[in-house]
Amino acid sequence: MKNAIYDKLLRCVKSVREKTDFEPKVAIVLGSGLGDYANDIKVVTEIPYEDIEEFPVSTVPGHAGKFIFGYVDEVPVVCMKGRVHYYEGYPISDVILPTRLMGMLGAKVLFLTNASGGINEDFRAADFMLITDHIACFAPNPLMGPNIDELGTRFPDMSEVYSKSLQDIIRTVAKDEKIKLHEGVYAYLTGPSFESPAEIRMLRSLGADAVGMSTVTEAIAANHMGMKICGISCISNQAAGISGQPLSHEEVQEAANAAAPYFKKLVTKSVVEIGKSL
Ligand code: HPA
Repeated sequence: MKNAIYDKLLRCVKSVREKTDFEPKVAIVLGSGLGDYANDIKVVTEIPYEDIEEFPVSTVPGHAGKFIFGYVDEVPVVCMKGRVHYYEGYPISDVILPTRLMGMLGAKVLFLTNASGGINEDFRAADFMLITDHIACFAPNPLMGPNIDELGTRFPDMSEVYSKSLQDIIRTVAKDEKIKLHEGVYAYLTGPSFESPAEIRMLRSLGADAVGMSTVTEAIAANHMGMKICGISCISNQAAGISGQPLSHEEVQEAANAAAPYFKKLVTKSVVEIGKSL
């Protein structure tokens, strides 16, 4: 059956393939303030999102949009500098289009990063959390609508979205590099308003350790199409009501900037080890 969402995806893939035949193994999504990680990649080619016909273009400061194709050490990667969020007003199918596109270009692994609010009271700004699972049920599911059978099944299993073997690799890298790494459950809410203190108490009682406005839609889409997924969250602030301070996007970016050197090391070494495992 014809599917408009799949047809658009195929047109975007074709548009990228007219510009490069690069085959990435690992797709990396850079979160708020973490965009300068791209400087560590041996760049082969860059494609601004606006050069891909029909591709959604991000509107958030700190999310300048382009795909960077290149190598982290020997590992061929595609890196998304700037992601698309549901709160920007795009249809949910557009929010996951870039993930699907990177999968269709050949990426076997999706490495997600983000900035999030720490719900777990042991977490401090600029700490990292390995994402072990998520809570997605407060936002629309990105797979709603006719299933795209070419990509995956109607009712995908979600019992190991964040690959245990990739988690082990990241844990080992963090230990070897002496980088403190918490672990926990990431709760996804659409935003763009931050949460209220009552919502944070609710999320904590449901088992969430951090909260943010991205990542989970991409993880659901990548899981649907059979990619292996891992994610690291940079805790940019304590969530609403914990520190008593109001929250701001500037604070999020500042904490991410402060954490950037450690983040880069953790991501780079993990990507190298993941590359060896593929
Ligand atoms: N809440 C939601 N998203 C976020 C936060 C937060 O406190 N910090 C960074 N992204």
